[in-house]
Amino acid sequence: MIQALYFAFVYMVLMPHALLHDAPAAATISVDLGHPGAAISPQMFGIFFEDINFAADGGLYPELVKNRSFEFNDPLMGWHEIMAVDAKGIVPPKGELDIRTEDPQNATNAHYLRARVYETGYGFYNTGFRGMGIQSGDEYRFSAYVRSNGPKSVRAVVTDTEGHEIGSGQLEGFDGTWKRYETVIRATGTDQHARLNLYVDDKGSVDFDMVSLYPVDTWKRRPNGLRRDLVQLLYDMHPGFIRFPGGCIVEGRRLANRYRWKATVGDIAERKTIVNRWNDELDYRPAPDYFQSFGLGFYEYFQLAEDIGARPLPILNCGMACQFNSSETASVDQLKEYIQDALDLIEFANGPADSPWGKLRAQMGHPAPFHLEMIGVGNEQWGDRYIDRYKLFAAALRQKHPEIRLVAAAGPTPAGEPFDSLWANWRQLHPDFVDEHYYMSPEWFLSNTGRYDHYDRSGPKVFAGEYAAQTSGVAKSDNRNNWRAAISEAAFMTGLERNGDVVQMASYAPLMAHAEAWQWTPDQIWFDNLRSYGTPDYYVQALFATNTGTRIVPVTPRVKSGLYTSGALDERSHELIVKAVNDTGTARAAEIHVAGMGASGNAKVITLASADLNAENSFEHPKAISPESSTAEVRSGTLSVELRPYSVNVYRIAVQ
Ligand code: AHR
Repeated sequence: MIQALYFAFVYMVLMPHALLHDAPAAATISVDLGHPGAAISPQMFGIFFEDINFAADGGLYPELVKNRSFEFNDPLMGWHEIMAVDAKGIVPPKGELDIRTEDPQNATNAHYLRARVYETGYGFYNTGFRGMGIQSGDEYRFSAYVRSNGPKSVRAVVTDTEGHEIGSGQLEGFDGTWKRYETVIRATGTDQHARLNLYVDDKGSVDFDMVSLYPVDTWKRRPNGLRRDLVQLLYDMHPGFIRFPGGCIVEGRRLANRYRWKATVGDIAERKTIVNRWNDELDYRPAPDYFQSFGLGFYEYFQLAEDIGARPLPILNCGMACQFNSSETASVDQLKEYIQDALDLIEFANGPADSPWGKLRAQMGHPAPFHLEMIGVGNEQWGDRYIDRYKLFAAALRQKHPEIRLVAAAGPTPAGEPFDSLWANWRQLHPDFVDEHYYMSPEWFLSNTGRYDHYDRSGPKVFAGEYAAQTSGVAKSDNRNNWRAAISEAAFMTGLERNGDVVQMASYAPLMAHAEAWQWTPDQIWFDNLRSYGTPDYYVQALFATNTGTRIVPVTPRVKSGLYTSGALDERSHELIVKAVNDTGTARAAEIHVAGMGASGNAKVITLASADLNAENSFEHPKAISPESSTAEVRSGTLSVELRPYSVNVYRIAVQ
């Protein structure tokens, strides 16, 4: 909560008054192709992934069984015995469940479940992540490590909310040693709150670990693969980079639960489950069942980056736990381990397949390198302790890997202290990028479109690493992903693009939220156990990411009476790309005059618009605000268009 108060203070202090615009006149937008400016980074607009809001377990990582390896603080969380009821009331169960650690399936996640069966037909079930999303006709791989002192089989029955069976399968042939068994269950019904019931029909005791029900139809149908609809939304954005794994999750509330990439690779059964720092961070949305299985770990992140054509950008713990929480700090001597982790990560991602860490990557299925080019040192850190630790990281990384570009933090806020003193240090220390965060009001975004117009061109580049317009305030539960927020971000992003020589990466945050299990709002993508949709903010991000040019082009006016513009030349497709945001409630005519190069033909027009600033997308209307395509003819170097009320417009004009 300290974090929320701090943000609320900064939000109030830095929030300007709402901008007032006069009724708009017809606009003339002049583009000077005779004087193209600096190059725009091809990776300019990317994505920020953090395991917040059940974005990993329960989301992008589509395991349906919660607490599959019995490692939560309450090791039976998510698991319940099946109770029968007769005329006299509840019938005592025909067996017992208990948690054991002796002779475990693996020592890292040592807990396992022992089911003692006193009468045939003993059963227990898992509730999933707010239920399990089951789709009729789809296949689900049911698997578990099992050891038995007698019973030879277990029946799996998937039931819907009413208790009707919608799929079943059986594992059999157990003996007295741990072995993995699997079968595929085809669903005969659809339910997003289904559950998995397990029955043991013989007397005796059976040990279970890593009990899993996993969709077969993952992205690229990979075992342990990612949820297909969610990856599709990311893929469709064409993100230039993907920042992972956060966010505050990198830091941990204490160093003991910081993100350690080495614990997230190799056999999924041996990736140590730990609590998620968002479990009890926000008291208005407690999530006691929020843990990290790391089934989605660094190998899977790198593979995701490759799949969606994004450059990987891991952010690493710099020896400091979250400064809003414990602020626990590793000593300089202890920091050696952290720095070694960074060096080993580069080998894991890029090293030859016969190097120690490169070998693990190859064994996991990817002998070719992942082409890691950037690493972030710390998330929202500040103060001398951070600077001292950054220096040690930078010295080691620059010496051994001068090819890797380094990202340093600018703290949690976009101005004041500690932002100013961090930047003063970065001008001396020359990280390649400085990671600025702004969780601010829509009005702040609209009045800061010129933020980078006067930034030092010779200093480190800016990574706008986390930003989102907050309609209510930071860490408030009533923030909305409405058009007011999204259009203000679009206006701001014209300023990022116009300053593409300074700002070279930008990402909205957070990326994803489970509609029944979120902690933080607003978010770019919302999902439940079966469905997902992109918010208007998502479509703004996608519009910019899929229409990034290669070179800045001067456009006037940049900002005038609710009109915000930017221009870029795409030297690959020989197109001029003009973006124009009309942040007024009035339609306005605009003429785009192109000078310096011939412009002709039919321009492609893409529009995002809604006259209602409170409009949102939803599961029922996932594309209420989404891109509409049309064309408009260029005549004598001029494109005459109408900017709809509250609209974001992209024009792609062929130039010679
Ligand atoms: O995006 C949510 C959180 O906001 C991130 O984890 C953190 O970096 C920021 O404070």
